[in-house]
Amino acid sequence: MSWSKTFEELDAARHDRESFDCGASELNVFIQTQAAKHMQAGISRTMVLPSKERLSNQKYLICSFYSVAPSSICRETLPAQLSKKLPHYPIPVFLLAQLAVHKAFHGSGLGKVTLVKALEFLWGVNAHMRAYAIVVDCLTDSAQMFYQKFGFEILCEHNGRTRLFISMKTVEQLFI
Ligand SMILES: CC(C)(COP(=O)(O)OP(=O)(O)OC[C@H]1O[C@@H](n2cnc3c(N)ncnc32)[C@H](O)[C@@H]1OP(=O)(O)O)[C@@H](O)C(=O)NCCC(=O)NCCS
Repeated sequence: MSWSKTFEELDAARHDRESFDCGASELNVFIQTQAAKHMQAGISRTMVLPSKERLSNQKYLICSFYSVAPSSICRETLPAQLSKKLPHYPIPVFLLAQLAVHKAFHGSGLGKVTLVKALEFLWGVNAHMRAYAIVVDCLTDSAQMFYQKFGFEILCEHNGRTRLFISMKTVEQLFI
């Protein structure tokens, strides 16, 4: 099974959510039962990378996915040299709420591809509605190491997880 070239919006009729397994039950449950509902409710958007070939049920395997949503942070959570230039009201950011790769593809570079596509997507949104940064709340130390490898920095503790961020100024350098 190989992955196709383009990410597309999650479509329950087209993408086989049941067979997705990234090894982390919270993320499996999210894509299987919550992602579509969250899109219907208008609170996040989930983009999936389907397989090139269909499964026997005629649906496409979900090789990887990411989910994004608008969010905000308080300036006090930022390092002092960044926060002093910002207003005292909530600072708009994008939340990279979920990102996972099917375990059949772990270690094949798809995590990197998926993260770059998520950043590119949010960079495109930023052209229309500005945000200061992208934040991600890490499920595990291993996830934290993955994001830090790509330039995310520690912001604060948030709901028992380590929250990382990357500024849109840094993201800009990837896409201009
Ligand atoms: C974390 C995850 C997305 C990585 O996907 P992957 O396809 O295995 O990663 P890649 O093959 O693209 O690896 C890209 C780079 O990140 C590194 N990397 C991958 N997983 C890593 C991890 N857990 N910790 C540290 N570095 C990691 C790789 O060594 C590679 O480095 P290189 O470019 O120098 O060779 C995947 O393992 C996954 O879905 N895990 C379960 C869900 C999860 O933890 N998601 C995180 C969001 S909360």
